[in-house]
Amino acid sequence: MRRIAILNQKGGVGKTTTTVNLGAALARAGRRVALVDLDPQGNLSTHLGLEIESGEPSSYTVLSGETDFAQTLRPTTTAGLHVIPTSIDLSGAELELATLDQRETILRRSIDAWERGAIERTGAPPAEYVLFDCPPSLGLLSLNALVAAREVFVALQTEFLALQGMTRLLEVVELIRAQLNPSLQVTGILPCLYDSRLRLAREILGELRQYFPEQCFRRTIGTNVKLAEAPSYAQHVFDYAPDSSGARDYRELAEEVIGQERRSPTGANSAARAAQTAQP
Ligand SMILES: Nc1ncnc2c1ncn2[C@@H]1O[C@H](COP(=O)(O)OP(=O)(O)O)[C@@H](O)[C@H]1O
Ligand SMILES: [Mg+2]
Repeated sequence: MRRIAILNQKGGVGKTTTTVNLGAALARAGRRVALVDLDPQGNLSTHLGLEIESGEPSSYTVLSGETDFAQTLRPTTTAGLHVIPTSIDLSGAELELATLDQRETILRRSIDAWERGAIERTGAPPAEYVLFDCPPSLGLLSLNALVAAREVFVALQTEFLALQGMTRLLEVVELIRAQLNPSLQVTGILPCLYDSRLRLAREILGELRQYFPEQCFRRTIGTNVKLAEAPSYAQHVFDYAPDSSGARDYRELAEEVIGQERRSPTGANSAARAAQTAQP
């Protein structure tokens, strides 16, 4: 079971759009996918038409220990695609969790129990992919995702200072790997809202590929209005505009992500192996 945090401390770079549409593309390719909305703003939940009342099972009740992972997962209209939605309660979670013991590992323990339970019952993990949609900050919610995950995909825009932002994120990942989660690796860098007509965008993409040749996806996600419109219809792009360039980009990204599992020395591969051999 690959566990991937979609990360960037900046907002508006395409994290939620990527979590929803990559998740949908993987599910449509026959994989079982769980999306976890860790942003108190709940854009991912809204995007998939899941508005949750305060007190209902959500990422907040998972983090506060009130519900377990399995009973919190909700199906979507797409076969194989499940979601842990968020609720407004999550906005207070950073403060509430701050006083708890082992507060960084709550999510990991919940997912470990879910995975272990399914393997004991059925001999197979409960999903092939868990994608965490992180909030635009590096607080306790993102930290829980980075401790529960084994991989990080950085969503970013090819704009001025993108490389500096990337370097800072890599330092954070390195710190978490050293202190809390030795299996964590950045296995994907994904330029979103990419406009190849802009010289600056092309130059920055070139620099990213030069500095991070292993991690950069070959696929970029172009700017496409259908991707921006789909959330207002509570649909992912494959239901809303299956023939759009946005649908094509995320379909091809999903193929590349699946392809990482065949490619040898990548983090995805070693992460997948670690997932199989890891002992609780
Ligand atoms: N490739 C794209 N083309 C057009 N609009 C996009 C694209 N990706 C994201 N958007 C829009 O940009 C805004 C920010 O994207 P979002 O995925 O919510 O970013 P984040 O989760 O990083 O804050 C949203 O309104 C979204 O619909
Ligand atoms: Mg978001």
